[in-house]
Amino acid sequence: MTNDLNSAFELAKQVMAKAYAPYSKFKVGAVVKAKGEDRLFSGANVENAVNGASVCAEITAISQMASQCDAKELEWVMVVSEQEDPLTPPCGLCRQWIFEFTDDLNLPIYIYSVSGKNIQTTLGELLPMAYKGKEILK
Ligand code: THU
Repeated sequence: MTNDLNSAFELAKQVMAKAYAPYSKFKVGAVVKAKGEDRLFSGANVENAVNGASVCAEITAISQMASQCDAKELEWVMVVSEQEDPLTPPCGLCRQWIFEFTDDLNLPIYIYSVSGKNIQTTLGELLPMAYKGKEILK
């Protein structure tokens, strides 16, 4: 697991450097691990001239997993940015995206800065009273 996190951190920094963030100039990288799948999936934020059309790093990483991998249940999520104080947690939309691919509110979320400063939290801490429409629609 520690090895996983070390390689995820290296990968997240690499994709972060490739972020397309000409508007905010704020580069973010994310790596996700799916249960039963050894490959790590990664992504960076990709911005757009149209307000509201930009995509976060977590969403591009989760989209890679969801579109390239049979396993669709997240095991953990890592996000990395250049900012250290405060560290950059997943935004509200990303939290909902993460919840789409897990039912586990204990899912670990690792929040790093490029310097290596980090905290570990859970989806449940970031998204209490999480909404999943399909529970209602059943
Ligand atoms: N951003 C992410 O990629 N992930 C987050 O969870 C926080 C925000 C990006 C979106 C936008 O491109 C830039 O950071 C500034 O908000």
